[in-house]
Amino acid sequence: MTSKAIRTGWIALCLLALALATGNARAERLSLDPGWLFHLGDVPMPVVKGHGMSYQNGKANGAWGAAAADFDDSDWRHLDLPHDWAVEGPFDPKENASQGYRPRGMGWYRRYLQLPESDRGRHIELQFDAIATHATVWVNGIVVDRNWSGYSGIRIDITPYVRYGAGVNTIAVRVDADEQEGWWYEGAGMYRHSWLVKRDALHIATDGVHADPVKKNGRWTVPVEVTLESSAKAARDAVVDVALVDPSGREVAKGSARSRVGALDSAVARMSLEVRDPAPWTLGRPSVYRVRAVLREGTKELDRAEVQTGFRTIRFDADRGFFLNDEPVKLQGVCIHQDHAGVGVAVPEPIWEFRLRRLKEMGVNAIRFSHNTPAAEVLDMADRMGLLVMDENRHFNPSPDYLRQLTWMVRRDRNHPSVILWSIFNEEPLQSTEPGYEMARRMVSAIKKLDASRPVTGAMHGGLFTDPNAADALDVVGLNYQIGAYDTYHRKHPKRPMTSTEDTSAYMTRGAFTSDRAAQVLGSYDDEPSSWGNTHRQAWRAIAERPFIAGSFVWTGIDYRGEPTPYEWPSASSFFGAMDLAGFAKTAFWIHQAQWVKDRPVVKLVPHWNWPGREGQPIHVMVASNAPRVRVLLNGAVVGEQDVDPYEMAHFQVPYAAGRIEAVALRGGAEIARDVVETSGEPARLVLTPDRSALAGDGLDALPVTVSAVDAQGRPVPTANVHVRFEIEGQGAIIGVGNGDPNSHEADKAGERSLFNGLAQVIVQSRRDGGGALKLRASASGLQGAETVLALRTAGAPPSVPTAEPATPLLSWRVSPPFATRPDPKLVLAETDMNSWGWDEPPIRRGPEAEPFRLYRSGLPVRADRNDGRARLAFGAIAGKAEVWVDGVKLGEKTTPEPAPFEVLLPKGAARRELTVLVEAQPGQPSGVWGRVALERGAR
Ligand code: GAL
Repeated sequence: MTSKAIRTGWIALCLLALALATGNARAERLSLDPGWLFHLGDVPMPVVKGHGMSYQNGKANGAWGAAAADFDDSDWRHLDLPHDWAVEGPFDPKENASQGYRPRGMGWYRRYLQLPESDRGRHIELQFDAIATHATVWVNGIVVDRNWSGYSGIRIDITPYVRYGAGVNTIAVRVDADEQEGWWYEGAGMYRHSWLVKRDALHIATDGVHADPVKKNGRWTVPVEVTLESSAKAARDAVVDVALVDPSGREVAKGSARSRVGALDSAVARMSLEVRDPAPWTLGRPSVYRVRAVLREGTKELDRAEVQTGFRTIRFDADRGFFLNDEPVKLQGVCIHQDHAGVGVAVPEPIWEFRLRRLKEMGVNAIRFSHNTPAAEVLDMADRMGLLVMDENRHFNPSPDYLRQLTWMVRRDRNHPSVILWSIFNEEPLQSTEPGYEMARRMVSAIKKLDASRPVTGAMHGGLFTDPNAADALDVVGLNYQIGAYDTYHRKHPKRPMTSTEDTSAYMTRGAFTSDRAAQVLGSYDDEPSSWGNTHRQAWRAIAERPFIAGSFVWTGIDYRGEPTPYEWPSASSFFGAMDLAGFAKTAFWIHQAQWVKDRPVVKLVPHWNWPGREGQPIHVMVASNAPRVRVLLNGAVVGEQDVDPYEMAHFQVPYAAGRIEAVALRGGAEIARDVVETSGEPARLVLTPDRSALAGDGLDALPVTVSAVDAQGRPVPTANVHVRFEIEGQGAIIGVGNGDPNSHEADKAGERSLFNGLAQVIVQSRRDGGGALKLRASASGLQGAETVLALRTAGAPPSVPTAEPATPLLSWRVSPPFATRPDPKLVLAETDMNSWGWDEPPIRRGPEAEPFRLYRSGLPVRADRNDGRARLAFGAIAGKAEVWVDGVKLGEKTTPEPAPFEVLLPKGAARRELTVLVEAQPGQPSGVWGRVALERGAR
């Protein structure tokens, strides 16, 4: 071997040793979704009384009841997040109509976890993406945060509170869903994801990468800011390397900056990347770039973070509306809430993908996530799918806690190319007042400090002409249902850009074509506007004909639970959607598709053609089409032909005869598309149509399966309302069912559902580590059943934090002063004496000391699942000879003085006992309760 090779080998070895010595552990973002315990209802806290309890109550780790680390949760339900308990509940006319007549109430979640010794010194962060509605979080009996919105995430630095190694950590979350923030169904519980993030003490702050490309004089740059935080004990220097990665994964620009971060401080590293000719982010080709920031200290990577971004310019013009990349784009938008059939607000990402895909099919190019910030994953999808987003904050309030929610949203979402507007309020009674204006001004200013590139809007439903009003503080004035004010406001403020923030609010029941008010059913011809709204066709015409209005946000794209306007019980969900709660199209879907889709022919004929008993009577036929002209044929004979009004569509009266009705879209006299509707017979067979043919076996993938019925000739039966039962076989589960009927009280979480006007939906989800095939079967009495087989692709579940055994950690001990002679283990310490015995937590080491005896005492809560006479009270190590006493009875004696593990069997007994350990030290030797003390489940 040459000396050079030897030297090189040595250097490599030294580098390896250095890496090992410095614990070159990569940052980890671990799912905390699996393995929670849940209790529906509140767990009342004990009344604090007496000196001992009051004293303890005032201490950092003095949490009581279900918030305490050692609480007995042995009979709680096991579940994985995301979880919405409201959707599991029954419909109840005594509950709030606005929330969909579902009980909300209180709930508790608890989770146990361990952290290896190697995590000591890292920064440990708990992240909850959203909890409905108010939440309080404890870690090891210490309250660590509160959150007053069910739509904003929280991140909590739990580093100071956790135990490593054998210690078990407890997270407790109290959720108050009696609190409401909206007038729609909001769900209840930990309905978005949870994470445990482990990073170096010096790390990139959560949501700490800001990279929003800027175009100036035809050239693109990406100014990047990376916020660093440090919980280290001294200042440290580091380098941030940033790379811009194009959609194909190639690095196309790089930058670097040094930074010094003080102990328990933060700093911002800034740099600017130059990019030549990046692929633009457009609605047709949304090129998504990634900005990757890597934090290094010497050769060691400390942390990395990646965000999505895109190259596009946006502009709102007071005369000509919205421009994307300098091209005018009329916003063809919808408002949506966040719940879906079967699953409530705990919507798996693939179901979100399905929802957004359905909206794109309808011709939607913009979404207002009303009236709250959506899940982060949904905005990632909007970037990838080419949808524009109005990102909305829940509360109109610039006071500190609410500003925290607003700035959280902006910091999290300010890199997304899809986000084009921030919305800070919706229909606020203060909108016409000076306080309204002052509040809006402060919120706008807080946004501008974090993001200068996106305009801020708010939704006014009046108050536009008072002076001052909240709109005076906005960049883009948003109007809800103010068609009458479009022109007058524009005349008064010709320099102010305007958009509809809400319009339409018209009712339809999917698949029903006659309004039956007694049955609370509303026909689907787009002739049932609300008293404050307009039909879909009128609202779009008013916006489309005014270039100064940037666009429309139809109320709503998809139905939602709650707000069952214009009815109440038994109606439990809305009638406003262009699609029903399951995403099945109503007539409004086809109308907007005809109005909005430009790149392919659209033709759709309504209604269905099953009208027995109405032979010879005229039936209103609407043809929604983007073609200039349409022709209607009944059983092969032409029954009408018309030019299509691009807003109103084409309408015919066709005398009914069973058979085949067709709509032919014509351009220049030639057929460009055709829609056919046939009269069907009685339902004979069920059909299952999955959205895709395979699922990833990762426990996250999910898909909707459409359930329908056909007649003996295979024709769909649009009037079928049969009751269907489902069975699933393989490594997956039915996580919800629905049918889009706003009046249905059938359970969402069930293995059965009735078809509603021909359709129902089953949502299936894979299990973690699932493989093989998933079989879904449907059966209905008197009908031939159906089966569909979905392949389960092997796909590792994302790394998650294992759930630890609840071990009743004994965290609060009293330690007596040393005694020269053996004290009585039953010695009573006065409840008011907080000082003559010390306070500690194992490992407790004492000595060597002059006098050999000490008493160590702790409360001993005994969980029901450990109170069977078989549980072992296990000491990781006791140094010295020892006697273990529980409630004045000696349970065991350690006769050897060397430090060693020790355990005693715990007899059945009270749920709260007192544990005393009498330790006798060897002369000159340290002694004490050295290891973890835990109550372990005995062998069965
Ligand atoms: C608006 C409101 C929406 C919804 C809608 C129903 O006033 O902003 O949240 O209530 O009306 O038409």
